[in-house]
Amino acid sequence: MAHRWILPGFAAAGLLMGAAWAQGDEPKSIKDVMVAVHKGKDSTISKVKDGKGTEDDNKKLVKMYEFLATQKAPKGDEKSWKDKTEALVAAAKDLVDKKDGALDKVKAASNCKACHDVHKPPAK
Ligand code: HEC
Repeated sequence: MAHRWILPGFAAAGLLMGAAWAQGDEPKSIKDVMVAVHKGKDSTISKVKDGKGTEDDNKKLVKMYEFLATQKAPKGDEKSWKDKTEALVAAAKDLVDKKDGALDKVKAASNCKACHDVHKPPAK
């Protein structure tokens, strides 16, 4: 009875995927990215801006911002969104590559208000 052996295989794969998801690796929306790396005093972006970011923090930013750039802003001009999100990706990549001035680029590109004013719909 082959299925007895196949089912545990699926279960194991499910567990592995569950573990990856628990680390918050796979955002599904802009909000997921905001909550994962921006929200709160101890967010990844605050750490990084304070110069306390780790290599993993920097890589997480790249990953989150690359996803952000594939999303459509709920509000505002498409080109503006593209420019802002691509600037975030470029800045975070520079940080991973330890390029000069990378932190300043990240600080400029992650300006919360500058982006929210244009692209975040008013709270209901
Ligand atoms: C490149 C643009 C951009 C930048 C930069 C940005 N945000 Fe956002 N943020 C958005 C958009 C767009 C939304 C609204 C998403 C939606 O409603 O679908 C949002 C929503 C949020 C939310 C609400 C999430 C929720 O659960 O409803 C929080 C919190 C947030 N941002 C925090 C921040 C903080 C803090 C910063 C600065 C460190 C920041 N964001 C920088 C675009 C940005």
